[in-house]
Amino acid sequence: KQDEDQLIIDAGQKQFGATSCSSCGMVYSADNPEDNFQHSQFHQRFLESIKYVGWKKERVVAEFWDGKILLVMPDDPKYAIKKAEEVRQVADNELGFQQVTLTRPAQAKTYLFINSERMIVGCLVTEPIRQAFRVLMQPDQAKDMTKDDFMERHRAWCCSTVPEQAICGISRIWVFGLARRKGIATRLLDTVRSTFMYGSHLTKDEIAFSDPTPDGKLFATKYSNT
Ligand code: ACO
Ligand code: ZN
Repeated sequence: KQDEDQLIIDAGQKQFGATSCSSCGMVYSADNPEDNFQHSQFHQRFLESIKYVGWKKERVVAEFWDGKILLVMPDDPKYAIKKAEEVRQVADNELGFQQVTLTRPAQAKTYLFINSERMIVGCLVTEPIRQAFRVLMQPDQAKDMTKDDFMERHRAWCCSTVPEQAICGISRIWVFGLARRKGIATRLLDTVRSTFMYGSHLTKDEIAFSDPTPDGKLFATKYSNT
């Protein structure tokens, strides 16, 4: 069945000369040797980065039928920190973040969503913050814009200038391309809210997204209003 689906996808994309890899998600042109080479390089490294081998000590903070969420704290064993960093780099890469280190690594917490195939398909990094600027954009304001307009302008008009109280900053949120729209980001955030501060449940207003991408903003707007 999966092969059949993939064939249909391939057939749809072949006319543009592009194929989408069903395991790493990279879109490339299979007829182009250089593309093929780049894909095989990316493919291996990517799958290695998101592979979860199982740890002696893991902090499970949520469990679901299709996976679980682990929390990695700054003082955890090296193997856990290293893996969290590796996945964060995958996310940063996709987000186009140049900055490789976190602003306050000693206070950052990383939440990882592990699926039933033992792949880390979601990553969320939090930092404690004192104030935040509310995202003002509504998704319907964007509907008449082309993607380029949107990309160019989104940073300029995303935030109010009035700071508000917030407690938890979402410095990164990323879900593997082939695992999106399955509620993984939602479940990561719900878990952050119930575990970020011991003994209290954060409201949606007490979390803030730093410098969201267009995807991030669509998601954040939906999440905050539901
Ligand atoms: N377009 C429109 N609506 C969206 C989108 C989107 N791309 N993504 C999420 N939503 C809305 C939908 O209403 C969705 O519900 P539905 O699927 O029932 O319609 C709802 O948000 C919940 O979505 P989830 O399934 O929980 O979100 P997902 O697991 O797909 O992850 C995320 C969303 C993290 C933004 C993902 O698309 C991603 O990793 N994108 C690339 C990286 C990125 O841009 N991250 C945000 C950076 S901002 C920051 O890090 C502070
Ligand atoms: Zn691949």
